[in-house]
Amino acid sequence: MKSAFIVVEGLEGAGKSTVIKGLTAYLQSQNKQVVNVREPGGTPMAEAIRDCVKQNWDENVTQQTELLLMYAARSQLVENVIKPALNNQQFVIGDRHDLSTVAYQGGGRGIALAQLDSLRELTLADFRPDFTLYLDIDPKIGLSRARGRGELDRIELSGLTFFNKARDMYQSQIEKMPNAVTIDASNSPDTVKQDAISALGDWLNKATNRV
Ligand code: TMP
Repeated sequence: MKSAFIVVEGLEGAGKSTVIKGLTAYLQSQNKQVVNVREPGGTPMAEAIRDCVKQNWDENVTQQTELLLMYAARSQLVENVIKPALNNQQFVIGDRHDLSTVAYQGGGRGIALAQLDSLRELTLADFRPDFTLYLDIDPKIGLSRARGRGELDRIELSGLTFFNKARDMYQSQIEKMPNAVTIDASNSPDTVKQDAISALGDWLNKATNRV
């Protein structure tokens, strides 16, 4: 397999960063070139959108604004970084992608999934990740880990009910997705990392055998 778009998803405090470091080292040990990206972000303009989305404003940030900014940032990243890297035979590891929008804006904020479908079609057409790892964590645990890292940003301040709804959406979507695996992220960071590496290894083996 010459290139693939691998996405790591999960609520705050699920341990995505540690997992991504592990997956990157694992792929590099197999002589694969890896490009790491995060959403929202990953290009100069998309990083500016990220700051905009995360900061606390002295005005109400509407759900519509939040949603559109996520897709604006995604469009910049997919067209300017992810697709070129895949065309260049590189492996891209994404810290979040479209499933985050389904979970947070769809599940958490309650925006109808049919409306997300239109924006996805407009922004991504049929572009999808090749493999998704979902790190499942109880938001109570995840948020306390996130709090331990410092001040919570605007989205992290959305409250437990919001995060429980986002988690429910993640779980129900993942069940329906081929090429997606759930990892229990309540375990120690090292166990979660190892579980993620073996899930990726299994998928790569199967995918390579299919080619
Ligand atoms: P993080 O990368 O530190 O997790 O920060 C990204 C924040 O943005 C996080 O709270 C999840 C949120 N988010 C959405 O609400 N929708 C999205 O589509 C994406 C990519 C992120």
